[in-house]
Formats: sequence, C-alpha cells, structure tokens
Amino acid sequence: MEIELSFASPEKLETEALVVPVCERKKGAKGQYGLGSRAKSLDQALGGFLQKLLDSGEVKGKLLETSLLHLPAGLGAKRLLLLGCGQQDKFSAFELRKVAGTAVRFLKAKSISSCAFLLEDFCGDETSASRAVVEGSIAGNFETNKYKSEKDSDEMAAVTLACVSKKNDTALQAATREAKIVAESQNFTRDLVNEPGNRLTPSILAERARRMAAEVGLECEILDKQKITELKMGAFLSVSLGSDEPPCMIVLRYLPAQAPPSPVLGLIGKGITFDSGGISIKPAADMDKMKYDMAGGAAMLGVIRAVALLKPNVRVIAVVPASENLLGGKAQKPGDIQTSMSGKTIEVLNTDAEGRLVLADALTYAHQVLGCTHLIDAATLTGACAVALGSVNAGVFGSDDSLVERLLASSRTAGEKMWRLPLDDEYKEQLRSAFADLPNIGGRYGGAITAAHFLKEFTADLPWTHLDIAGTAWLDDNKPHMSKGPTGVAVRTLTQLVLDFAGQS
Ligand code: BES
Ligand code: ZN
Ligand code: ZN
Repeated sequence: MEIELSFASPEKLETEALVVPVCERKKGAKGQYGLGSRAKSLDQALGGFLQKLLDSGEVKGKLLETSLLHLPAGLGAKRLLLLGCGQQDKFSAFELRKVAGTAVRFLKAKSISSCAFLLEDFCGDETSASRAVVEGSIAGNFETNKYKSEKDSDEMAAVTLACVSKKNDTALQAATREAKIVAESQNFTRDLVNEPGNRLTPSILAERARRMAAEVGLECEILDKQKITELKMGAFLSVSLGSDEPPCMIVLRYLPAQAPPSPVLGLIGKGITFDSGGISIKPAADMDKMKYDMAGGAAMLGVIRAVALLKPNVRVIAVVPASENLLGGKAQKPGDIQTSMSGKTIEVLNTDAEGRLVLADALTYAHQVLGCTHLIDAATLTGACAVALGSVNAGVFGSDDSLVERLLASSRTAGEKMWRLPLDDEYKEQLRSAFADLPNIGGRYGGAITAAHFLKEFTADLPWTHLDIAGTAWLDDNKPHMSKGPTGVAVRTLTQLVLDFAGQS
C-alpha cells in the first residue's frame, strides 16, 4: 500500500473517499457535537450538513460506526466516510489504529482502492497519529484469501494522510516510513502464520526466512538435523521424532559493525509448523488452528525484518527452532527422558507440551553459542494463558523487572495489550520429577506460569522475558478493522523494544 502526505485544504482534496473521524456526541454538554475542528471547517463548505447529521442522531459517532455519503457538493472528494471514534476522552492511538483499519476494510469491500484520512485535532499529535493511521491501514488491508480462487475484496492501493502543517513534513515522512516498515513486517508475519501445515514445513519456513534475509540484508544460517544432533539438542530433536519432515534451527543475524558489542538481543520464537499434540494427541475439534503454532517464530522473523530495514544501532539475533509435532512409529512417548543441550534431563510427561522443549534448546543455544546477553521469547505456549487472559492481552513473564518494564512500555507505545503474570518460586514446586531433573508439565493449575518457569531453567539467569501469545496470535472472527486469522502480535512491540535498546525511540 502506498502512503502519501497531503497538506492541501481538505475540501479541495481530490480523492475517491475522504475519511472523517467523528466522536460521539456528549450528552447534555452544549457545543460538544462530535466534529473535530477540521471537520467543522470542512462542514462550512457543506453548509453545515455534517453538523445536522450529527444533531439528527442518525450518525452517532460510536466507535467504528461507518456512514458513507456520496457526491458531497462543494468538496473535491467523491465520497465522505464518517468514521466513529467513540468518546473523545477515551480516544487514543490504540483506537485510532482500529478506526483507520475499519475505514480501509469498509472502503475496499466496495472496490474503492484509494482514500484520504483526515488527521483531526483529537487524534493526538500529528506524528504519532500518522503512525497509528499507517499501521492500522496496512494491518486492515491484510487478507487471508491467498488460496481462494475468487477474492471478495480488492486491496486498498493508496492512503493519503491529510495533514495540517507543512512545517512538520520531514518528521511526518520519517514517521510514516517507519510505521510502514513495521506494519508490513507485521503482515509478513501474518502471511507465514496463515500458511497451512502442508505448505509450511520447517524446511519451507527456513526457505522463506532465507529469502527474506537476502531481500533485507541479514545474515542467515540454517542448522539442519545433523547439526542439531551434533549440538546434542535432545529436547528439540525429541519433538521432531514422530515426523518425516526434518527439523531445523533458523538463525538470522543483524550485527551492525558500529554497534557496541553488548547488548546482543536474542529473539527466540517457537516454530512448530503443526502441533497435533504428538502421542498425547489433541482432540479433533479446532486442531486445524494448530498451524498457527509457529506464530512466535514468525513474529521474530517479522521483527528482525523490520530491524534490518530500520537499521537501529544494536545487535539482534533471531532464533527459530522449527519442527512438526506429529505421531509416528518413532515418536517420543509419555515418560521418555530426554537430555537437553544444557545437560539437564527432562521427563516428557505430555508430548503436547512440546513448545517448551524446542525453546529450551534454542534458549541454551542463544546464550551459549550465539552470545546473546538478553533473551526475549515469544510462543503460542499454553491454552492456560488463553484461558487466563482471553484474546485481549498477551501474557508477559520475566524475572528481570527492568526488562519486563521496558517490554510493557514498548507494548503501550506499539498499541499491543500485554499483561504481566507472576513467577513466584512457589509455582516451581510443581516442576518435580521422580526420574529426571524436571518434568515438562506441572499440575492442573497455573499452567502458563509453570510453562514459563520451565523456560527460565534454560536462561542461565540472564535478563529474560517470555511472551505467551497463545490467545492473541489468532483472531477467531472477522473484526471491522482486521480479518479473522493471524494477528502478527508482538511484531510491533518487540520492534519498538529493539529501537528502545538502540536509544532510538
Ligand atoms: N500449542 C499449544 C498451546 C495451545 C493450546 C494454544 C490450546 C491454543 C490452544 C501447546 O503446545 C500445548 O499444547 N500446550 C498444552 C500444555 C499442556 C499439555 C501442559 C496446553 O496448553 O494444553
Ligand atoms: Zn502442544
Ligand atoms: Zn504447541
């Protein structure tokens, strides 16, 4: 999608559709009629028509409400799309992204392929508002129709930001360029997550990573099964035993020469291209969704893609252990004991708790071999996290308060909701095995936390945070601002975190 900036007066702007954000009318408060100051001046050219519409109650300005007006006399635009923003005092960049996404989805469903978005005074400062509109529009433009012969929606080809002040031009150009890179990287991730298991095996995921690395100028190394065996990654290998598809470890490096040697940020993402549960097989209902079980890995590939294009001055390495989790004659069995790369032995009590097994060795590899000083992982790790936080917040864990705080601050800037869950030592008591150093599951309760504790055992006490995105990586229904399917969660937050480490945000 092309992004353009315009400083022309909105009534003169020639566009297929001018999107005008409007707020909810405040009850009882005189003079608060939901139009922002730019819409008010636009309304003068329309002889007060918009104000009358709001006064009539026909257009309420409720969040994500849409009203399309044709051929507004006196305007350069062919159509006006009034887009509800809800209550003004609750409106922030978080809602603005959704508003922009809704506008794009609404218009392209009507085969309108370009539009202009009026940046209103209540949208916040113009630079952050532009970012939000670009991010929301590009995310809204994403469709999961790659394998449909008939597409029911065209792409939005271009969005123009109708800005106020030409003085701001340079800052706006920079902000929109950055936002475009981040949002396209989020869609890159979503595209990978959307691929079904038969079209995205570990080897194909590695190939896609390699291709992307070549495009954006990253170093790419793929460890094959033989190398993984030589490195004694027994936990990772055990997950792949039931499958005919070989596992691989994808390593992408962004190491700018002028960056200080430390920190080295390790981004480790779970890359299970399909999770059947293994011998501890999952129920049939909704098992198809488990093609999304590489969403953490795909997010890390999206982050390092954005990083390669934004060029912050900090070292970053993405590590994705990729495998299928299937059943077969050689599959691992409940009760099997595996030796991880760290030397710790693991009693696999449930083969469906496979994410932590592949991540255990990837974490060890990231600090022992790759020299990462900070470990950040993302994984569709537990159903328990989805039960606890639903599809609204991703779960955040970590023992290093300052890193967790930095991550949460980045998530607020990026507009992705995340919530910290506790990691008290008491929960760890569930991780006792009679036969090995630790079991791969805890008891019935606190499953997201015991999973995080398991991972912590492989972090060598380095600063580490873990994101459980099981509930947030997939949208179960279409939304006005986003299609059903992969969300690309964590890409914006973690890119922001990397920029923060580089002192660039
Ligand atoms: N990929 C799943 C996590 C998951 C489960 C996401 C259900 C969404 C819905 C993970 O590998 C898994 O199966 N975890 C088990 C762990 C359990 C056996 C301790 C789970 O959460 O049920
Ligand atoms: Zn599983
Ligand atoms: Zn899984």
